[in-house]
Amino acid sequence: MTRSILISPSILSADFARLGEEVRAIDEAGCDWVHIDVMDGHFVPNITIGPNVVKALRPHTTKVFDVHLMISPVDQYLEAFVAAGSDIITVHPEAGPHIHRTVQHIKSLGVKAGVVLNPGTPAKMLDYLIDDVDLILVMSVNPGFGGQSFIDNQLRKIEAIRKMIDKTGREIHLQVDGGIDFTTAPKAIEAGADVLVAGTATFRGGPSAYADNIRKLRGG
Ligand code: DX5
Ligand code: ZN
Repeated sequence: MTRSILISPSILSADFARLGEEVRAIDEAGCDWVHIDVMDGHFVPNITIGPNVVKALRPHTTKVFDVHLMISPVDQYLEAFVAAGSDIITVHPEAGPHIHRTVQHIKSLGVKAGVVLNPGTPAKMLDYLIDDVDLILVMSVNPGFGGQSFIDNQLRKIEAIRKMIDKTGREIHLQVDGGIDFTTAPKAIEAGADVLVAGTATFRGGPSAYADNIRKLRGG
């Protein structure tokens, strides 16, 4: 089956001194979504950006802001990220005590809700969440940094979740994040992913390379 593949560049690998221009450049280069990695130095060992930066970037593109929250606690920041212009908010079950409540909270704010599984978190975690989510993100690296190597055994998890999604009959995106490059992208797609996050592989070579990088990641 051929499903259309969406590319969501992670701006973690962009030039942070020129973030607005970088977002415009990946937009013009044909990305589908913009992946924004929010890290707090507590849930993950790195600190990145907050809602003010998301808000500042919003006028630079009309593309979907795909916001991956790696912060704990998470619930009290959801409103701010929605007000800043997020379209999809994705959360880790490990980030708070009540993932089901967090998913409902995100949906009540009028945006799409995603759940993300770390490499060590089993697909089973989704059993009582899948009917409520719009997106499932499989981490193919441990969260915290760009530029890490793809963990191959996550392909089996992607395959298992693809089956779970198809069983629901609902349209749920299956996203993969971490170590996606021209070699691992086709494997993730083959396993059933339809949204690829790519930081290093999108931004490598600077703005003149973005369109080519995105096309190659999509398999074109
Ligand atoms: C890791 C982040 C990823 C990361 C991907 O915690 O969630 O989005 O930026 O970077 P690459 O594509 O370089 O592995
Ligand atoms: Zn991410």
